[in-house]
Amino acid sequence: MASRSQSLYRRARRRMPGGVSSPARAFSPHPVYMARGRGSHLWDVDGRRYTDYCLAFGALLLGHSHPRVVEAVGEQMARGSLYGTPVEDEVRLAEEVHRWVPSLERLRLVTTGTEATMSAVRLARGATGREVIVKMDGGFHGSHGSVLVRAGSGAATHGVPGSLGVPRGLAGLTEVVPYNDADALRGALRRRRGRVAAVILEPVLGNIGPVLPREGYLQEVREATEDHGVLLNFVEVITGFRVHPGGAQGLYHVKPDLTTLGKVLGGGLPLALYGGRADLLSHVSPEGGVYQAGTYSGNPLSLAAALATLRVLRRGRPWPRLASLTRRLARGLQEAAGPGTSVVHLGSMFQVFFRPRAPRDYTEVKECDSTRYMEFLRGCIRRGVYLSPSQYETQFLSTAHTPRDIETTLHRMREVLGAKG
Ligand SMILES: Cc1ncc(COP(=O)(O)O)c(C=O)c1O
Repeated sequence: MASRSQSLYRRARRRMPGGVSSPARAFSPHPVYMARGRGSHLWDVDGRRYTDYCLAFGALLLGHSHPRVVEAVGEQMARGSLYGTPVEDEVRLAEEVHRWVPSLERLRLVTTGTEATMSAVRLARGATGREVIVKMDGGFHGSHGSVLVRAGSGAATHGVPGSLGVPRGLAGLTEVVPYNDADALRGALRRRRGRVAAVILEPVLGNIGPVLPREGYLQEVREATEDHGVLLNFVEVITGFRVHPGGAQGLYHVKPDLTTLGKVLGGGLPLALYGGRADLLSHVSPEGGVYQAGTYSGNPLSLAAALATLRVLRRGRPWPRLASLTRRLARGLQEAAGPGTSVVHLGSMFQVFFRPRAPRDYTEVKECDSTRYMEFLRGCIRRGVYLSPSQYETQFLSTAHTPRDIETTLHRMREVLGAKG
């Protein structure tokens, strides 16, 4: 008999492209429809329980339905979900975020990571009067035209090198260079001298699994952009609040001109932001001529979830514990998977790459055996471990994960890999 997930998927495909609301959720033979989440666990529509390492692609640093977040959102809902006016909480959040990420001198709240990077690119172009942006091969910054050029994530999973529908003229304004290669970046900045508005990058590539910066790389990127008078835009949609309280820029001590945050910021509700140097943000409407607006920007429900999340993080300071649990899982998985496989981890991010060495860029990530990854994924899901459903994504831990979760997960992963122990 078909499971409820199977029959829902069959119905979904009739009315929705690929049966999903976002392509990263689709995988063969069918995605699992979830009905409930609590702490480190998800329950599907057939009543099966999973330990969750996808965590809504990294958004849920506190796990599912954290009591403080549920309480804050419930209280706000009772007072109204949307006023279409400024609210006190947005002022508090802007001040709080500046304390965590000092380079965010001023910021604009938006609703999604896509909107944040799209607006940051427009701001960079508007503030400099230049049109070209430089991005990294495999760097995913959401689904808008300027950055849908050799992006990772769902685009990589489904073999889409860019996207149809992006005008050639727009894509031609995006220069792509390999990650971890500062010489290639300098070359591109030389070739397009005087035309580049910004270099946009995830400091740690998170959308094709964590690909870590080699030592000194981010400092070299900073120097190259300064030498060429080009803005540096860190997309910390995944790394923000996750790899360090101050994001990757706090961890690696590199100060960008612009930053975008999303995912963890909203505590499970849609919220993102872009911001940075005060002088740059003065170009944003209504102060300046770079237009950007949104009905749901800084909505009270998301603000309540964000402030509650940051309060829990500030009090609990969970980063060392998260890193140590992730290390335990990564090491156990590496042992079970053996030398043909490399498990990479940073803070509470990890991924198993089916290739012998940790990849340093997108070309190396694409050398992974993604068929083996999908077999591993299906085996894990059958045993109650839910992973991000692609080789080209990252896995995450939350503060709700326990040492027992990790041991149980390792036991199940060893079974899937046919390893002893
Ligand atoms: C680095 C990065 N930038 C931008 C985005 C887009 O964010 P959203 O899905 O909220 O639009 C994502 C989402 O995966 C991301 O990981």
